[in-house]
Amino acid sequence: MSSEVLDRNLIMDAVRVCEVAAIAAWKLAGRGDEKAADQAAVDAMRTALNDLDIDGEIVIGEGERDEAPMLYIGEKVGKGKGAKIDIALDPLEGTTLTAKAMANALAVMAWAPKGSLLNAPDTYMDKIACGPGYPAGAIDLDKSPAENVQALAKAKGVDPSEITVCVLDRPRHADIIASVRSVGARVHLITDGDVAGVINTADPDTGVDLYVGQGGAPEGVLACAALKCVGGQFQGRLVFRNNDEKARAARVGITDFDKKYDLHEMVRADAIFAATGVTKGALLDGVTVSGGFVHTHTLVMNSATHTVREVRMKRPA
Ligand code: FBP
Repeated sequence: MSSEVLDRNLIMDAVRVCEVAAIAAWKLAGRGDEKAADQAAVDAMRTALNDLDIDGEIVIGEGERDEAPMLYIGEKVGKGKGAKIDIALDPLEGTTLTAKAMANALAVMAWAPKGSLLNAPDTYMDKIACGPGYPAGAIDLDKSPAENVQALAKAKGVDPSEITVCVLDRPRHADIIASVRSVGARVHLITDGDVAGVINTADPDTGVDLYVGQGGAPEGVLACAALKCVGGQFQGRLVFRNNDEKARAARVGITDFDKKYDLHEMVRADAIFAATGVTKGALLDGVTVSGGFVHTHTLVMNSATHTVREVRMKRPA
């Protein structure tokens, strides 16, 4: 476990890396080609990372080395000098959202001192999250969604009907949705993008109190880095559909396949989290071009200081 804190100067570097990835992906928004949009974001993010004075290693990236030519797990990025950093990234979180020019696509990255991010395999993860201000243990992955809604409502001092739960709109979540609605709570369905879904629990403006459901494990680490900065609770457990997925987990050092991880086991030291909007969403505005300038909107946070910044960039298009 590391007690190191990353240099604050890295915050603007993280912003720039997400900005270029978002702009590159946005150029392909609405053009129906998920892979091209993702590739553009990956290329841009990798080029920007390799220009930095960091000694970075991709911990959460585009996949294993044999399946991802760029930003694969274990790839070294940066000029190899400066801070030793674990990097979790998703150059385009919401490939389908981007291809269809739908809301809420992001370019996302988290940095933490070397050895402090969970090396999550590219499998699913059962997740539950809520924002800050609740007593420890207010939510529990091993309880039913209905029980969690009731516990959160009690802690918040409201009726369960006043609780809103964000869930990815997938057939596999039918039981979760039924359980949430059985106690009168509202279900806010999203088509994609559970990093933002989790972060929204920490932003009262979104009206989301709780996130429940199964999404990508890598996205879980990114979401935890964000919650570490703003507060909140998260629990996750890896889901394996076959032996190949267990082998993937074993290759990144997972030995306990049933472990329930909390936020601080997924991100074990102070982290920097950055996300730039690709398309406009609840969290961030998307990339726009007007008057010959390209505009971006980025959220960047540092868990060491609990600083949250929103950065708006404008440069000639
Ligand atoms: P991509 O950007 O890789 O398409 O991921 C989008 C996403 O919605 C994630 O936010 C989420 O964790 C995952 O896909 C859910 O997976 P699935 O689409 O298989 O249900």
